Amino acid sequence: MKQRAALLFVFLLLLSSIGEGVERREDSFTVIRKRAHDVLTKHCGSCHLPGLLTTNQNALKIFNLGTDSWFLNVDEKRMQAMLGRLKSRESMSQIELLHLSPKGGPSPVAPTSEEIQDFSYFVSSWILNNPN
Ligand code: HEC
Repeated sequence: MKQRAALLFVFLLLLSSIGEGVERREDSFTVIRKRAHDVLTKHCGSCHLPGLLTTNQNALKIFNLGTDSWFLNVDEKRMQAMLGRLKSRESMSQIELLHLSPKGGPSPVAPTSEEIQDFSYFVSSWILNNPN
């Protein structure tokens, strides 16, 4: 009887730890997703975010940062193109960055390697979850 109780206890412990693991994984995808959204908003938002004077309607058709699920209608090829565009800005001069920015928007800055890493990490996790 005691043995059975002990077994049940171990089983319940195992069950709860599995539950925690799932929760933590979900949490971390939320964090990864949020970081990626922050990076894109900062570097691409002047055109790809709705409701601004500088918003570009054609840019919104490609991806719209106004929603948390902006990536739902993005395919892998485009996701890689986004990463490519972000990366290409890392080594750009201020003049080159200004050339890619809308007039009247915030002064552009080059993405840091940490920001690129954050977005790159999001792309990898997203690809793992979206085999299309
Ligand atoms: C000056 C406004 C502007 C900014 C800033 C901007 N975009 Fe865009 N983007 C557009 C417009 C307009 C289009 C649609 C027309 C086209 O293809 O050029 C577009 C299209 C795209 C495309 C689809 C074309 C392709 O090569 O597949 C990607 C990917 C993209 N943008 C990524 C980005 C990323 C990532 C950033 C930030 C690093 C960014 N854009 C910043 C205006 C902008």
